[in-house]
Amino acid sequence: MPAKGAPILDRQAPVGEPRAAAGGVLVDGVRRAFGDVVALDGMSLRVRRHEVVAVVGPSGCGKSTLLELVCGLQRPDSGRVEGEPAVLMPQRDLLLPWSSALDNAALPLRLRGVGRTEARERARPLFAQLGLEGFEGARPHELSGGMRQRVAFLRTLLSGKPLLALDEPFASLDALTRAQMQEWLAGALAREPRSVLLVTHDVEEAVVLADRVVVMSPRPGRAVGEIEVGLPRPRKRTDPAAVALRERALELLR
Ligand SMILES: Nc1ncnc2c1ncn2[C@@H]1O[C@H](COP(=O)(O)OP(=O)(O)OP(=O)(O)O)[C@@H](O)[C@H]1O
Ligand SMILES: [Mg+2]
Repeated sequence: MPAKGAPILDRQAPVGEPRAAAGGVLVDGVRRAFGDVVALDGMSLRVRRHEVVAVVGPSGCGKSTLLELVCGLQRPDSGRVEGEPAVLMPQRDLLLPWSSALDNAALPLRLRGVGRTEARERARPLFAQLGLEGFEGARPHELSGGMRQRVAFLRTLLSGKPLLALDEPFASLDALTRAQMQEWLAGALAREPRSVLLVTHDVEEAVVLADRVVVMSPRPGRAVGEIEVGLPRPRKRTDPAAVALRERALELLR
């Protein structure tokens, strides 16, 4: 899987959306309940411009809810959410079943008014980079779960929004492909930085990719710990310093 090449992240500014002056995103004292179920309470977190922040926490602690709040798909009951326009890569891939993989990936370009041919030509080179070459014309049901996840990931990148909210983006990939995708994303962000809020259950992934790791409590979720990663890039998951940080994150989760 080649990691180098032409610009990959489509950074064209979105039309007609407000931009936070300082960039990034601020979540401040947020509460969000669904009836009696309080998903988040007192949740605060900051992603600075071009910073990669990973969020780890037990199942059901409100991580997906947090990302939807950041992307403006939900509103908090109280507290503040402010920031750059953000795009969500949801936990389930939600590809359009009637469209080809290529057209699914290119959809955000089409929604921005790019013509069909040009949108396809811009999305096509990314297929080879993510090991999807030859499957451009396949419908989602003809793809494996891991392939669908990569198409959904491409679609998220091509949205051109300054903040990426990724909900377990590599969870359904086998270990080898997952490591390749992490490496690819790290390389792409090194060349063309973006603000990223990454939800993952994989503390190793968090330490390999993030500048900071935020650890959440069980529901109602709030940030209970934070680890500054600060390791030079490119990172090696076997680096003793990375292993030590992973252990610290796991301790905070216990
Ligand atoms: N639309 C909704 N309606 C009702 N309850 C909801 C809704 N969305 C989330 N919840 C509840 O809020 C809580 C947090 O859900 P959320 O999906 O944010 O957790 P999560 O941390 O992403 O979990 P997981 O790690 O399993 O993906 C859960 O108890 C869930 O049942
Ligand atoms: Mg979730």
